[in-house]
Amino acid sequence: ADAAVIPALVIGTGYGGSVAALRLAQAGVDVHMVEMGMAWDTPGADGKIFANTTTPDQRSFWLRTKTKQPLSNFLGFPIDKAIPRYTGVLDAEEFAGITVYQGRGVGGGSLVNGGMAVTPKRENFGDVLPTVNPDEMYGTYYPRANAELGVNMIRPAWFDTTDAYQYARVGRKHAQRSNFPYVFVPTVYDWNYMEQEAAGTVPKSALVGEILYGNNYGKKSLQKTYLSKVRATGRVTISPLHRVVNVVPATGGYKVTIEQLNTNGDPIAVKEVTAAKVFFAAGSVGTSKLLVKLKATGALPNLNGEVGKGWGDNGNVMCGRANHMWDPTGALQSSIPTLGIDNWAAGGAFAEVAPLPTGIETYASFYLSITKTPNRAQFTWNAAAGKVDLNWQTAWKSVSINAAKTIFDKINSKEGTIYRTDLFGVYKIWGDHLTYHPLGGAILNRATDNYGRLQGYPGLYVIDGSLIPGSTVVNPFVTITALAERNIEKIIATDL
Ligand code: FDA
Repeated sequence: ADAAVIPALVIGTGYGGSVAALRLAQAGVDVHMVEMGMAWDTPGADGKIFANTTTPDQRSFWLRTKTKQPLSNFLGFPIDKAIPRYTGVLDAEEFAGITVYQGRGVGGGSLVNGGMAVTPKRENFGDVLPTVNPDEMYGTYYPRANAELGVNMIRPAWFDTTDAYQYARVGRKHAQRSNFPYVFVPTVYDWNYMEQEAAGTVPKSALVGEILYGNNYGKKSLQKTYLSKVRATGRVTISPLHRVVNVVPATGGYKVTIEQLNTNGDPIAVKEVTAAKVFFAAGSVGTSKLLVKLKATGALPNLNGEVGKGWGDNGNVMCGRANHMWDPTGALQSSIPTLGIDNWAAGGAFAEVAPLPTGIETYASFYLSITKTPNRAQFTWNAAAGKVDLNWQTAWKSVSINAAKTIFDKINSKEGTIYRTDLFGVYKIWGDHLTYHPLGGAILNRATDNYGRLQGYPGLYVIDGSLIPGSTVVNPFVTITALAERNIEKIIATDL
């Protein structure tokens, strides 16, 4: 083989990319990972790698001069503030009808996410990945993903007594009183560490609200799991602050064009490499944008017409409720949610009792709901503007709001309470302008074959959340990881 040809190039270092890199390296393949975000391995002036949720700074946002916090208001007042433009960890990427939050850096979404690690109920799996055999997922790949990700459960006795989960106990009580089933949500936060935080024996992390802009201690991000194993193989190089902008067929595989970025987001060098195999793992939005552009601009014209289609928001919608004075939710709130209200079967909604870690008593209950919605959007190339558009419409969220209401209207009526109207603007109940869970755009068995091989281009693969047709019925990263494990095993067995 040509020494100048990289055997495998992986675009992105989130869940799909990390799984692909680890399994390829373990199979003896040298891998080059390309990541547009930063490495996040060096502390800032305050001695911490990541900023706290309550004090965002330049590290917090991807190329913005003002924060764009999911909860934009408090008591009706806007809380966003000016920050220096920087290649920060959380991207609030704006399309016409929706803001899509994503992680940027080595570790992808695992750097910023809530760590909720949920395997869908098997009875719902047919709605998630209809062309995948559930026996192999529930027998092999979900267990493998859960083990590698370090998924663990809160100790129920600690949940019942710690101040940090008073907000979740109030959420549980209200669910019970309205006869909704509730579940403890497994997470990748190290629960032993959190108990030590509460005991005051280790530096605090979840218990001082670290989450959205990175977590400095207790959360097992991909840096501590898959990517630590990736490094141990000695076969993988990772290039942070490098963004893939083009992929074209070439002798020996594909010529990949990569821009090196400075921390202002500006390209400072352009590099070209040839790779025998290229894995698109840039996340649902990142992979979809690349593929749609490459098809439309003639780099990969034979990609099929399914590319860019089937994108969904996992039905995300947020809301808050105002509790009575006798139901305080606590000034101390762990940033890691661990209680869910399951009304999927009856109402199409699975709601997480989320923290509102303001440091003061708010008497508020806050929820992120995942809902059942038929709406799917499409990415298209906008030649005039030289960018990719998404045709999602904000009004489509009404389906999700109605599903969430099957839970919260009932709870409000039972408790004699009302919705908060001050968290997303002035008199606005629903956080319906955003998603944390982008899925789809290169759907399995449509844009690709049933294992992520891109049709018409041997050696090109999709291996991230863009394979999943718009919903995982629960939080997505365990399913993204398990699907990647399934697909890469097949690819290694048959394509190497
Ligand atoms: P992922 O987005 O993780 O990784 C893609 C990587 O590719 C990124 O690092 C990106 O910078 C990089 N990239 C993109 N384009 C590139 C290019 N052209 N060149 C080079 N690199 C490029 N899920 C869950 O299950 N439980 C939870 O609690 C939460 N909570 C949550 C909170 C918040 C605030 C967010 C934003 C998200 C969540 N999620 C979540 C969602 C979860 O994080 C998400 O589904 C996964 O990270 C998606 O994994 P992927 O591998 O698809 O891409």
